[in-house]
Amino acid sequence: MFTNVWYTAAFSKDVIDTPKHVKMLDRDFVLFRDAGGTAHCLSNVCCHRGAPLNQGICHSDGTLACCQHGWRFGGDGTCTMMPAAPDGAEIPKAARVDSYPVEERYGMLWVLLGDDPEAAAPIPDVPEFEAEGWRWIEYEETWDANYHWAKFSNLDYVHLPVVHGQTWNGSVRPPAHKVEYLDETSIGTGIRVKTKRPKGLWSKLRPAETEVQSRMKFYLSGLTIKVDVEIGGAGTGMRFVVLDMSTPIDERTTTMRFLFGRNFMPKKWADKGTLKRNLKNVREDQMIAEAQLPKVPKLPDSRTLMTDPEDEMVKEYWAIMTKLRDKGWQIDQPALEQAEKSGGYHVIPSPARRANPEDWVYKPVPRVHPETLAQTAK
Ligand code: FES
Ligand SMILES: [Fe+2]
Repeated sequence: MFTNVWYTAAFSKDVIDTPKHVKMLDRDFVLFRDAGGTAHCLSNVCCHRGAPLNQGICHSDGTLACCQHGWRFGGDGTCTMMPAAPDGAEIPKAARVDSYPVEERYGMLWVLLGDDPEAAAPIPDVPEFEAEGWRWIEYEETWDANYHWAKFSNLDYVHLPVVHGQTWNGSVRPPAHKVEYLDETSIGTGIRVKTKRPKGLWSKLRPAETEVQSRMKFYLSGLTIKVDVEIGGAGTGMRFVVLDMSTPIDERTTTMRFLFGRNFMPKKWADKGTLKRNLKNVREDQMIAEAQLPKVPKLPDSRTLMTDPEDEMVKEYWAIMTKLRDKGWQIDQPALEQAEKSGGYHVIPSPARRANPEDWVYKPVPRVHPETLAQTAK
C-alpha cells in the first residue's frame, strides 16, 4: 500500500456532527468537522494513552476531545487543552496527533495520507459534477479483495463481453485502442463503435444506428477509474459517466465508492433503474476480485504474461505503482508487522513531521527504501 496518495475517506453526507472512524492503509483515522463545518482527518490513536478519538466529542471551540481524559485536539492535530493540567502548565510538544490534508470534492472527503502533499498527484478534475443538467448517484460498499484486484475488475474493455455480456455490435473484440499518459500518473484510452438502434426506452435516446464513443481513464488519486460513454451517439453530448474509486482498508479489503452521473433523464424516477443496471456490473466484478489469487498481489517483476490489447491499461497501471515504490512511498508491510509484534503502534506520517520529525509519540510506518530495492536487485 502507498502513502502520499489522495484517497476518498467518506461521502460528505456521512460526516456531520459526530466523529467518524475510518480504517485506511491498515491504520485508524478519525474524520470530524469543526464548528465552521470544515472537515478534518486525524490519526485516531490518542497520543496520551492510545484511546480512540472517534469515541470522543466535538466541541464548539472546533476541537475534538479524547474519550478518556478529555485532551482536546484541533484540526491540525495539536493538543490545545488538558483538563487535568494545573493552571499555567505548558502543553508538551509531543501532545499531538498526525493531521492529514482534507479536500471536500464531488460530495466526498479526500484525504492525503502522507507527508508530502506537494509531491502527490492532484485530485482528478471532474467538471461534470457541478455542471448544469447532470444528475449523480452515490454508492459505497466494501469488498473482501485487494485494491489492485478491485481496480483490475474494470481496467480493460475486453472483460465487458465476458463478464458483463456487453458486445460491440455483436463482436466480443473491442476496436484497437492505444493508452496515453494524460500526465505522470494518469492514463487514458477510448474506443468508438458502431451500434445498432437500441430497443425500448433507449430508442428514445439513440433513435438511429450510430457510433458510440467510450473513454476510460485511470487517475492515481482516489485510485479512480472514470468511464465516460457518449450514450446518445458520438457528437450528441448525451453522456453517462461512472467514477469508481478504491480505498485500501488493508491489503485484503477495499472500500469502493461509485458516482454514477448522467446528463439525460435528469429526474429522480430514473435513478432506481440506473443504479440497478450498474450494480449488476459491480456485483459481477466483485465476485471475480474477491476470488482472485494470490489474495495480496505483488508489483510484477516481469510483464511477460501481459498481452495486448487487454492488458494495455494494466501495464501502465503497474508502471505508475512502480513509480510510487521508487519514490519510497510504499509501506514496508513485512517490516511493519515485525515491528508491531513487539508492541508499539505506527502511523502514516503527516506533513507536520517533515518540519519536525521529533516530538511524536508514535513512529511512522516503515517504507520501502529505494536504496534497499537497488541493492536487492543486484
Ligand atoms: S487517552 Fe486520550 S486523553 Fe488520555
Ligand atoms: Fe467490470
